[in-house]
Order: sequence, then structure tokens, then C-alpha cells
Amino acid sequence: MFRKITTLVATAALSGLLVAGAAVAKDPITIKFSHVVAENTAKGQMANKFKDLIAERLAGKVQVEVFPSSQLFNDDGVLKAILLGDVQIAAPALSKFESYTRQLQIFDLPFLFKDMAAVEKFQTSEKGIELLDSLQKKGFVGLGYLHNGMKQLSSNSPLRVPSDANGLKFRIMSSDVLAAQFQALNAVPLKKPFSEVFTLLQTKAIDGQENSWSNIYSQKFFEVQPYITESNHGLLDYMVVTSKEFWMSIPDDERAIVRTALDEAIAFGNKVAEDKSIGDRQLILDSKRCEIIELTDAERSQWVEAMKPVWEQFEEEIGKDMIDAAYQSNM
Ligand code: SIN
Repeated sequence: MFRKITTLVATAALSGLLVAGAAVAKDPITIKFSHVVAENTAKGQMANKFKDLIAERLAGKVQVEVFPSSQLFNDDGVLKAILLGDVQIAAPALSKFESYTRQLQIFDLPFLFKDMAAVEKFQTSEKGIELLDSLQKKGFVGLGYLHNGMKQLSSNSPLRVPSDANGLKFRIMSSDVLAAQFQALNAVPLKKPFSEVFTLLQTKAIDGQENSWSNIYSQKFFEVQPYITESNHGLLDYMVVTSKEFWMSIPDDERAIVRTALDEAIAFGNKVAEDKSIGDRQLILDSKRCEIIELTDAERSQWVEAMKPVWEQFEEEIGKDMIDAAYQSNM
């Protein structure tokens, strides 16, 4: 009898301990990473790399869920979703921050950066870091810049000189600078989400669009656009962002590990971007689905001349000192 009672007491105590233990065990922090591009792009691979690194280093404490191809949000809705806590990390194109800050519009100025090395030099400078931090007052933390590459123009008709774009409709990201850029060509800019571009092109509701080699390839735009002008006229780059509220809610030691994993994933993504800018151009060329138009120096000068007045139009909002600093990074 005594043994039976002791066993009962011990069992009760053990199950009590288990219950208490279960109550103490915490659910892992979940980071939802939402983006709009395909998984095999630089951003897609960066996000997956980040997920893998966190699984390796913070198993049971932090987990990352990646939602590619606008499955969860498009870029215009994702920033609001971050502030509401529906998503924790995203990496929208810098052109899509316009309703939160005008300063990032600098990255949309046509022909500002001659190549990605100049972009990198500016972004790692004091001014570039100032821009990365510029969203703090809106409740965001800029975690780093991520590259895609220089933008090209695709179209239904060949674009050799600016007058070829006259009257044509081009899809653009939600940026007034990009709108002004096409208006400077007497073309018609239309702000549309990335997820709609293929259908708009396929149905000929629009005549063209601007994007990186990687996006033109991965979204199959080259299958429905017979011409791509290798203009390198602008930049497609991203900012990896989270909300200040979420970021500060991660315990310090775990946040440091997340930070390192992000830095590594961004470096990895930037390497993928560099490779894809060359590799995806070649794949498009090999497909023989469309013609890649290479501009002569004289033709290129005409595009620069037509688009460059946009700088002055936005100089007051962006800041002349900022534009000068960015331009200097080409030297
Ligand atoms: C992206 O690369 O994230 C989308 C770019 C676009 O909207 O054109």
C-alpha cells in the first residue's frame, strides 16, 4: 500500500514537472520573408540561404519561412505588412519605398551609376549608410542593400534612339522618378505590380518595360518581347528591411546571430546577382526568342541626353549633395 502511494505521488510529481516544463518551453520566433521574384534569382537565393543559415545556427529558437513569387504580398503591400507584423522581412526594390521616403529615389535616377562597382562604392559610403538608416523614423530597420543589376529596356518594337519610345506604354515600378524618366521620352509610364507584368506584355496591354537581365529571364519577359535594348540606363537594387519593433523583440544574442546570417546571405545573393547579370543575358541570347540591341556610343549619348534632365527635376527632394556624392562614386 505504502509503495503504491509513493508511486502515485512520484508519478503525479513527474507529470507536474512535465506540465511545468511544457509551459516554460517557448515557441521559436518565426521570421516570414516575403518577396516577389522567382526562387532561382539573386533575391530568391539570398532568402533561401538566410533560411538555411538560421536553421543551422538557431534551430528551435528562430525559424525562417520564405514566400517567393508574390505568394503572400506584392511589393507595394509588403512594407505595410511589415509594420503590421504580418511579415517580418522583405527586400523590395528601392523604387518601391517612395511613400515612406523620397530620398531613396536617388537610386532611380537614370544613368547615375556607370556600373555595379560604383553602386557598391556609394552604398558603403557614409551617404549610402545614411540612406540605409533613413527609414528608421518610419519604424523600419534597413538591414542591408542587395543587388540585382542594371536595367535594360524590353519592347515590342526596336528601341535604338529615344524617339523610338515616343507614345509607347511602359510598365514601371511605383516611382515618380521612373515615371518622369519615361515622360522625358514622350512615352507613357504605368505603375503596375511585378506579378502583372508578364500578362500585360503578353496581351500587349503595354508595349514594354524595364528590368534586369535576371528578371527578364526568370519571368520569361523575353518570350513575349521581341526586342531588348541593352541600355544599362538604371539600377534594380533592393533594401532588406524589417520593423524596428520586431527587430528589437529578438533577444540580443539571437539578434546578433540573425544579423551575421543576413550579412552572409546578402553577400551570397550579391555574388549570384553578379553571375546572373552575365549568365541570364547569355541564356536569353541563346534562346533566339528576341533580339538584343547593342547601342553605339552615339545612340547611347542620345538616351543620356533625353533622360538626364530628370536629375534636376528631383534634385530638391533628393538633395544635390547626395546626387553629387553618388555621381562621384563613378570616379
Ligand atoms: C523585384 O525584382 O523585386 C521586382 C522588380 C520589379 O517590380 O520590376
